[in-house]
Amino acid sequence: MADNIDKIAKSLQESVLKGYSRRLKDELFGPRNIGKIENPNSHVSITGVCGDTIEMTLTVNKGKISDIKFTTDGCGATIACMSYVSRIAKGRSIEEAVQIKPDDVDDYFQGLPEESKHCANLSVSALKAALNMYENKEQKVNFPSVKRKKKDTDAETAIF
Ligand code: FES
Repeated sequence: MADNIDKIAKSLQESVLKGYSRRLKDELFGPRNIGKIENPNSHVSITGVCGDTIEMTLTVNKGKISDIKFTTDGCGATIACMSYVSRIAKGRSIEEAVQIKPDDVDDYFQGLPEESKHCANLSVSALKAALNMYENKEQKVNFPSVKRKKKDTDAETAIF
């Protein structure tokens, strides 16, 4: 009985991971920067069209992203994409970090499966929303492209 369950679980895992590159699997099974920063400079929560949400906190020091953390209830591809986006954003200036594009994520993973391309979009959108919120707080500027509403957390929330 236990052997059968193990076989079923293995088969399910293989079918879910079909089409995932080695880099994607490595990032998924060893994600970086998961969690929440205490007293961040920016805290956002964004939900994609699929209904999955990414919550992101970041701190900025001397114009550079000094720390960045995320949580998500999304799929494995989102965990991997968000882990990669957070890794490459950390240490960059805001001007450099806003240049990160979903295609950069797709390229790094040597092509995400078609059904997971939007996970890269959502991850990059979370980063941009967090940077927008930081800039907005710093410069008191409104970013009309980000629709915000208050959620049950204290994060700014945007729907993408
Ligand atoms: Fe929703 Fe990946 S399936 S973000």
